[in-house]
Amino acid sequence: MTQPASSTPTPGKRVSRRDFLKLGMGVLGALAITEIAGASLLFLAPRSLEGEFGGVVTAGPVDSFPNGSITEFPEGRFFLIRAEDGGFLAVYRRCTHLGCSVSWKPDQNQFVCPCHGSHFDFHGDVENPPAPRALDVFAVHIEDGVVKVDTSRPLTREEFEANQLVYA
Ligand code: FES
Repeated sequence: MTQPASSTPTPGKRVSRRDFLKLGMGVLGALAITEIAGASLLFLAPRSLEGEFGGVVTAGPVDSFPNGSITEFPEGRFFLIRAEDGGFLAVYRRCTHLGCSVSWKPDQNQFVCPCHGSHFDFHGDVENPPAPRALDVFAVHIEDGVVKVDTSRPLTREEFEANQLVYA
């Protein structure tokens, strides 16, 4: 004798626990992919670095830097040197030994590295090793009487030479 079919109505299609978990994992996977794609696009999009390290930093009007002065630009990671003859030089603050940040000591008239004792003179030349060469420099441009420093690429040098100075 066969059993009669149940008379209880079926409330639509039932979803098994396994199917439910698969669906949940699929949704989470799609969300993760969307988030990663969004983050990648933000990372790849060109960023404006104007005014900060990696971009062009506007230092200021030529006349605001007295001859024989050194002005630090922490956000650009450089020191702007104005030589006694009025020429400009922007030196990267990274020590050429192992990369520590040097500081300018006006009382000693030197850049000093706190890590292993290297000293550099007013133009960034090595006075005391172990630093193997002069502090790197950044390109300086003077446009309409304003000094701008391009920090996108440090330029290496063995020592200071007069032709590294830029004039208004
Ligand atoms: S990192 Fe400057 S002396 Fe070593």
